[in-house]
Amino acid sequence: KILIVDFGGQTAQLIARRIRDFGVYSDIVAPETNLSPNILSDVKGLIFSGSPWSVYEEGAPVVHPSAYESGLPILGICYGFHRMTTDFGGSVLGLAKKEYGRAALRFPKPSKLFDGVPEGFISWMSHGDSIAEVAEGFQITARSADHPAAAEDPEKRRYGLQFHPEVTHCEYGIKILENFVFGICGADKGWSMEGYLEEVSASIKKRVGDHPVLLLISGGVDSSVVAGVLLSALDPEKVHLMYIDTGLMRKGETEAVRKSLEALGATHLSIIDAGDRFLHALEGVDDPEEKRRIIGDLFVEVQKSDIVGKIDGDYFLAQGTLYTDLIESGKGVGKNAKVIKSHHNVRSPLIEAKRNAGMIIEPLDRLYKDEVRRLGRLIGLSESVVGRHPFPGPGLAVRILGAVDREKCRILREADAIFIEELHRRKLYDEIWQAFAVLLPIKSVGVTGDARRYGYVLALRAIVSHDGMTADVYPFDTKDLLEISSLITNSVSEIGRVVYDVSSKPPATIEWE
Ligand code: XMP
Repeated sequence: KILIVDFGGQTAQLIARRIRDFGVYSDIVAPETNLSPNILSDVKGLIFSGSPWSVYEEGAPVVHPSAYESGLPILGICYGFHRMTTDFGGSVLGLAKKEYGRAALRFPKPSKLFDGVPEGFISWMSHGDSIAEVAEGFQITARSADHPAAAEDPEKRRYGLQFHPEVTHCEYGIKILENFVFGICGADKGWSMEGYLEEVSASIKKRVGDHPVLLLISGGVDSSVVAGVLLSALDPEKVHLMYIDTGLMRKGETEAVRKSLEALGATHLSIIDAGDRFLHALEGVDDPEEKRRIIGDLFVEVQKSDIVGKIDGDYFLAQGTLYTDLIESGKGVGKNAKVIKSHHNVRSPLIEAKRNAGMIIEPLDRLYKDEVRRLGRLIGLSESVVGRHPFPGPGLAVRILGAVDREKCRILREADAIFIEELHRRKLYDEIWQAFAVLLPIKSVGVTGDARRYGYVLALRAIVSHDGMTADVYPFDTKDLLEISSLITNSVSEIGRVVYDVSSKPPATIEWE
């Protein structure tokens, strides 16, 4: 495997993805991590990522000496290159003018890193600092018009790149990374989903022994995949699945969840109908954060009251935490990574207690979302679950702007179901990352027959995204939008007007609340 030392650059994850796509396992670690022999047992090379810092700034991240002492090949990218340069006696200077974008490179010296890469290829630069003097033992192997673009100490197998081979704009970027991973590090292609499933199943079996395992099901892809993994790794009698119907779910959702879990062999599935409790608690509340808080607290309460008596003795708690969840909440890597998205989901005392007791199982915590989908397919989850759009924990409550009530839930549920069904029918669903309807707290005038009538305004939202952190509006054909709009107003009489939200994220968010 290859370890990526993350200095807080946004591209560390992208580097990890690229390497996994080669079939080589890669993991991200914080720079202060002491790379003990245990951690390094199957590591073939290290990659130092970029960073928002400059090496000469006070507080700039440094790397634990164990990285250099390991003797492993190192590839430093941008800041990673500057870091190595500074650590070995070279110098780095701030540029008066940032070098950004495409840059053609010349090769003053041959390098293994550029095997099969033609001179004059177009690299991708994004830096405000540059190498002024290379470190001892290093020689410059590539130059842009103005600056050193690569240097190396081939004897010690240390390589530095000023540009970013991991971004798609960089020609031959993949080739350069492959040269490092295979040609220089000699890594093997051993990473496969089948292998992951086997490994994770064996480790769950070993940890759990005869204890029962509880999994809270949300109906989304992640918890469904965890359910599948548990049910295939363990005796299904030991696997307790719990799903809380908040009354804020989409149309037919609870039934669909039941069916898909039963198809996976679930025997202990409790579906808790807590709709009345949630709607009652939300009565008259129109502040979005207050709604989220009420829903979060109630989730915890229902968990507490309904788990008691269902499972005997000491049990493990399984969760569908993903690799990106850990990274985003700052747990996976060190203090230099910025917390990009504060976590929406509840800090449940149950989860905290289980974590402190070391009784949490997170079988997806080394996977990215699309890898989770691949794993889902491998364990036989239906395409309708695997490809499902994300759905927020607070459900329809954050898609009914203002106060929530049963009637508004019903209206939104009907309209949303028509929208989603039409996306399936028109084969658009899989092109879109997330789509849903939002019920606005205003009424506008319309006419039906001869009468003027005030009806609700419904907003449709459909976006494309990689990870939900940024999003572009899905560019519907006008015909599709017009037809969907009239289907909705014809079928849901309370809705008088449909609008399409054409805002990207940023500046808007995906959800409206
Ligand atoms: P925003 O609206 O922040 O949404 O652009 C980004 C992604 O997160 C989902 N989202 C939530 N998920 N609880 C969740 O579990 C929440 O409170 C929540 N708010 C937003 C949203 O659906 C989108 O996929």
